[in-house]
Amino acid sequence: MARSPSYICQSCGAVYSRWQGKCDACGGWNTLAQEAVAAPVAGAVRGGARGKGRVFALEGLKGDSREAPRVASGIAELDRVTGGGFVPGSVILIGGDPGIGKSTLLTQACAALARRGRRVAYISGEEAVAQVRLRAERLGLTDAPVELAAETNVEDIVATLGAGAPPQLAVIDSIQTMWSSAVEAAPGTVTQVRGSAQALIRFAKTTGTTVILVGHVTKDGQIAGPRVVEHMVDAVVSFEGDSGHHFRILRAVKNRFGPTDEIGVFEMTGHGLSEVANPSALFLAGRDLSAPGTAVFAGMEGTRPLLVEIQALVAPSSLGTPRRAVVGWDPSRLSMVLAVLEARGGLKLGQHDVYLNVAGGLRINEPAADLAAAAALISSLAGAPLSPETVYFGEIGLSGAIRPVAQAPARLKEAGKLGFSRAVVPAALKDAPDASPLALQSLGHIADLVAAIAA
Ligand code: TYD
Ligand code: MG
Repeated sequence: MARSPSYICQSCGAVYSRWQGKCDACGGWNTLAQEAVAAPVAGAVRGGARGKGRVFALEGLKGDSREAPRVASGIAELDRVTGGGFVPGSVILIGGDPGIGKSTLLTQACAALARRGRRVAYISGEEAVAQVRLRAERLGLTDAPVELAAETNVEDIVATLGAGAPPQLAVIDSIQTMWSSAVEAAPGTVTQVRGSAQALIRFAKTTGTTVILVGHVTKDGQIAGPRVVEHMVDAVVSFEGDSGHHFRILRAVKNRFGPTDEIGVFEMTGHGLSEVANPSALFLAGRDLSAPGTAVFAGMEGTRPLLVEIQALVAPSSLGTPRRAVVGWDPSRLSMVLAVLEARGGLKLGQHDVYLNVAGGLRINEPAADLAAAAALISSLAGAPLSPETVYFGEIGLSGAIRPVAQAPARLKEAGKLGFSRAVVPAALKDAPDASPLALQSLGHIADLVAAIAA
């Protein structure tokens, strides 16, 4: 069959017959690269699959779903993110910047499982076996019976893993280095990444092995992004953190078998990643209690309450257009809070530079952080430090109303546990606790907050 060269977006995998500067599908610029798309091999697929399209009754499967025991990795923070352990036959994609600690985390997970007598394989396409062993040595895990291999051809990998009893867990580090002989494209291209992922997913589904694919995320889009793989796998987990901090956060972005809002918190140490059981204490450590512009936000990450410090700096600007910079929070959310503070709270911020920072390198997505951010901003502008014993949570509406948020009891309980004595909360608190461990100050409008802090 004649093959025509195609142009494939290296970011999302969309196929075009002609080159163009922008990918219509994902909006990426200059992401198209020429690749030969292999025509399906005539007969091979159809012949092999004939008669295999069996159907099952939905009700007959009832019993099966209960019999899918999860395999706990032994690393509690990892199990929390996956929803209680690995589901047999599932495929997890773990993404993150190079050097963030993906290989370290997975080496530790493999060793923990192998020590409990499970067959575990770690396939590295980036490092030689000796390098993988060197890392294990640094982590003090050389005694764990993990099967190591340095291999990049998926057919070879599937053959190796398929020999004997299938492993409980197989780590592929990384999917960008894999290539399949069935796909006619250069290694590293989207077609190869997708073809390799397909073969490994098929292996996982047929053998019940949990497969973890590591994916590098590069900013310039040079390597085929794991975006295309995201749709194919059961769970996508991202490993985040910034190089200036030792904290690493594992976050489920997609999970067919569990929640997507749970996070796992780790700390990178000299001998690997250690779990952080009480992240609030960690994120609040080293607080400057006397400085204006810091407020403690009682947040939630999934089912876990998490206290973090929100820092604001509001200073007169020397620029025509004042600067607005934010780290760890949504910039458009900051713009909105600033606009509400001006329009409904009577503050004058138009001539001020505004900086907002979430301490500890955490990224917050919750609207409930509005009130803490507003408190920090007002405090910085007024030069009035907030009480170090107080936590804040609540969403701010465009009208200036402070709206209630979910899971107030859990937030208050965590704050009480960490020694806080007061909480500034929305007036119409939903599921208000009967006996709060903290003294509550209920506010209905942003103007009340301005009055309480700046007065
Ligand atoms: P690595 O797991 O190789 O990152 P990735 O696979 O995501 O590219 O880890 C890289 C960084 O972690 C590297 O800069 C060294 C550091 N590190 C430690 O600080 N302590 C350790 O025990 C290990 C193994 C690595
Ligand atoms: Mg690595």
